[in-house]
Amino acid sequence: MKPKSLEKLRLPIMVAPMFLVSGPDLVIESAKAGVVGAFPTPNCRTIAELDSWMNKVSAETKEADGLWAANLVTHRTNDRLIDDLALVAKHKPPIVITALGSPAPAIPVVHEYGGIVLADVVNLPLAKKAAKAGADGLVAVSAGAGGHTGHLSPFAFLSALREFFDGIICVGGGISDGAGVAGAVAAGADIVYMGTRFLAAKESLAVPDYKEMVVQSSIDDILVSAAITGTSASWLKASLENNGYNLSDLTMPKERNYGGADVGKRWKDLWAAGQGVGAVKTKAPAKEIIENLFQEFQKAQARISQY
Ligand SMILES: Cc1cc2nc3c(=O)[nH]c(=O)nc-3n(C[C@H](O)[C@H](O)[C@H](O)COP(=O)(O)O)c2cc1C
Repeated sequence: MKPKSLEKLRLPIMVAPMFLVSGPDLVIESAKAGVVGAFPTPNCRTIAELDSWMNKVSAETKEADGLWAANLVTHRTNDRLIDDLALVAKHKPPIVITALGSPAPAIPVVHEYGGIVLADVVNLPLAKKAAKAGADGLVAVSAGAGGHTGHLSPFAFLSALREFFDGIICVGGGISDGAGVAGAVAAGADIVYMGTRFLAAKESLAVPDYKEMVVQSSIDDILVSAAITGTSASWLKASLENNGYNLSDLTMPKERNYGGADVGKRWKDLWAAGQGVGAVKTKAPAKEIIENLFQEFQKAQARISQY
C-alpha cells in the first residue's frame, strides 16, 4: 500500500539531491510533474540564499500541490546544521533527508509541522541505527548510484531492510528507467531515488559540457573510486582524464572531508554519474523525462501482469 505521505505522487520517484546540480527549477518542475523534487542544502552557499530557495520552492510547489525534500548533512562537521534546521522549521519541506549522520537532530523539528524524515543509509548497521532513532523512512543508496555510492545490490538491500523495517523505503542506485522503478516497487520499495537520469535535464545546474558528457556516456564510462573524496564515489572517467588523472593510478587525496574548500572543485570539474547514465539520451526538460518514465513504468507494469 502506498504510504499516506506519498499518496499524491503520479510516479513513485524522487529526483535525488545532487551537489551543484539540483536547484529550485529542477525541484519545482519535478514536483509539478508528480514526483518528489529534492536538493541538498549545501548547494546554497549562504543561509540567506537557502532561505530564498526554500521560499520559492515552498510557494511554487504548494500552488501545484507537489512534494519536495531538503537534504541536510547531519555530520558533526556541518557547522550550519542549526541554521539549516531553523529554515526547515520555517519553510516546512514535506520531506527531509538526512545524510552522513544521524537523523535524530532533524526528527523533532520536522515532526512538529507534520513532515517526514528519511535517513540516507548504505548498509544494515546504519539502517538499524536510523530506524532506532525514529526515522520515518530509509533511503537505501545501493550499488550503481552516481556520486557517493553504496555497494549492496538494491534488491538484496531491500529484502534485508524489509526484514526489520516497515516504514518508507526509498531505494536508489543505477535505477534510471521506468522498468527499474517498477522492479524496485515490486521488490518492496515505496519510492525510487533517481539522480543520474536527471543530470542532463534542462533545469539541472550542471554546466553544458557536463550535460553533453552525460548524454554521450554509457555504463562503461563510469569508474567507482574512493581516491577522489576518501569515500567510494562514481565518476565519469572522461572528466577524470580531462583533469589529468591517470585512471589506473588515482592517488588518495591528503585530506578526507565533506565540506572542505577543495571539495567544490571535485564536483565542479570532476563529474559524477551512476551506472544508469546510458538511459540519458537528451537534455530534455524534467517534465518530459518524467512523462517518459511514466510510459516506461506502465509498459513494465503490463509486462509483469502477464505472469
Ligand atoms: C552529481 C551528483 C551529485 C550528488 N550529490 C549528492 C549530495 O550532495 N548529497 C547526497 O545525499 N547525495 C548526492 N548524490 C547521490 C544522489 O542523491 C543519489 O543517491 C544517486 O544519484 C542515486 O543513484 P543514481 O545516480 O544511479 O540515480 C549525488 C549524485 C550525483 C550524480
